[in-house]
Amino acid sequence: MNINISRLQQRIDDLAGLSDNTGAGVTRVIFSDADMQARAVMKKLASNLDLLVREDAVGNLFMRWEGSEPDRKSVATGSHIDAIPHAGKFDGVVGVLGALEAVNSLQEDGYRPKRSIEVISFTSEEPTRFGIGCLGSRILSGSLSAPSASALKDDDGVTLGEWLQRRGFAENTLDSARLVNGVYDAFVELHIEQGPRLEAEDLDIGIVDRIAGPSTTRVVLKGAGGHAGAVMMSERNDTLAAAGEIILAAERVARESESPHTVATVGKLNNFPNAVNSIPREVLLEIDLRDTDPDSWRGALESLNGEIQEISSRRGVDCILHRINEDPPAICDPDLVMQISELSTALGYSHKIIPSHAYHDSLFMAQICPTTMIFIPSRDGISHTPEEYSTPEQIQKGVAMLAGILRARSE
Ligand code: HGY
Ligand code: MN
Ligand code: MN
Repeated sequence: MNINISRLQQRIDDLAGLSDNTGAGVTRVIFSDADMQARAVMKKLASNLDLLVREDAVGNLFMRWEGSEPDRKSVATGSHIDAIPHAGKFDGVVGVLGALEAVNSLQEDGYRPKRSIEVISFTSEEPTRFGIGCLGSRILSGSLSAPSASALKDDDGVTLGEWLQRRGFAENTLDSARLVNGVYDAFVELHIEQGPRLEAEDLDIGIVDRIAGPSTTRVVLKGAGGHAGAVMMSERNDTLAAAGEIILAAERVARESESPHTVATVGKLNNFPNAVNSIPREVLLEIDLRDTDPDSWRGALESLNGEIQEISSRRGVDCILHRINEDPPAICDPDLVMQISELSTALGYSHKIIPSHAYHDSLFMAQICPTTMIFIPSRDGISHTPEEYSTPEQIQKGVAMLAGILRARSE
C-alpha cells in the first residue's frame, strides 16, 4: 500500500503556518485563533475523506470511518495538534495528520474496514493554557471530573467553562465527554519519540510498553521580605533562597531514585517583587517529576514532599504545596505491543520496545482500552523547539505501521 508522504508532508508544513507566534517555531495554545483554525483544517480533511465528524463538550475531535460492522468496537488512533510556545511542527501533528493519511491511503488501496476506525484529535495535550496536560483525554477517560475541569482557570483567571462558551462548546455537558471503559477495541498513537534512542541505535520504529506518569507540584513560598541592605542575615527568611534549595532537592530526589527513569525539574518560577535590593517575599515554583515505574514514582513524590516541608520550616518561610496533577505511569497492552512488533518485522522495519518518557494522551487512553504507541525517530532527540525534525522516510514508515495495525484490527 502506498503512503503518499509528499501529500502528508505538505499538510504538516501547511498546518505549521497556523501559529500564535510569528518567527521560528509553532505556538498553538488551546482555543487560540490558530488552534481554532487548525481544528477547522482537520474537519475539512476528514469530510474530504467522508469521515463522520463530531466534537465533544471539551473539544475532542472525532473523525470516524464507518465500518461495515459498526456495532462492533471501533479501532481508535489519534494525538494532538496543540503546541507549546515556539515548538516544533511534528509533536502530536504526526499522529493526527499521519492517521488521516493512513485512512486516505487505505481508502485509495480499496480497503473497507469492518470495525469502524476513529481518528481523535485531543483537546489540549499540552499544559499551556490551564497548567494541566492531556485535558481532553483526562476528561474522556474519567481521570478529571467535570466540576474540577470546569473550575480550571488560565493565567487571566478565565475558566475552562468560560472558554468553552466563548468557542461554542456546550460546557454544561462536560460529563457527556466521558467514554466508557472498553469503548474501543484498541487505541494506537503515532508520535515522534522526542528523545535520542531510536536515532542513536539507528532504528526505524519504537513500540511503547510503558508511559511515564507525570506530576506537577506547585509550591508557593511566603516570607517577610524587606530591605536587602538593612535586614541582617540572621533576621531574614529569603523565599528565593528557599526555592533554590527546593530546586536542588527535586534534582537530588530524581538522581537518587532507584529507577533510572525518574526525572524532575523546576520549569516555572515567579519571584516577587523581583527587585535587586528587595529580599524576595513570595516565590511560586512548579516541579515536573515523572517516572515509568509506579513504585519509584510514588516514592519520589513522597520524598519530594518531605524535602519541601523540611526546607521551608527550617528557613522559616510559609509553604503552600499544591499537587496540580499526579498520574500513575501506564502499562501498554502486551498483546497489542506484540502484534505491532510482528507487523514491523513483516514490513522489514527495525524496531525496539521502549518506554515513553514524555507523557501522551495514550497515558489516559490506556485506562479505558488496550493501548500502545508507535514512535519514529527525532533528530538529535530534540523536541519542543523549532529544531524538532523527523525525515519524510521516518514519517512514512510510521504511517505505514499505523495503517497496517488499523487494517489488521478493523478486519
Ligand atoms: O510534557 C510532555 O511530556 C508532553 O510533551 N506534553
Ligand atoms: Mn509536547
Ligand atoms: Mn505530544
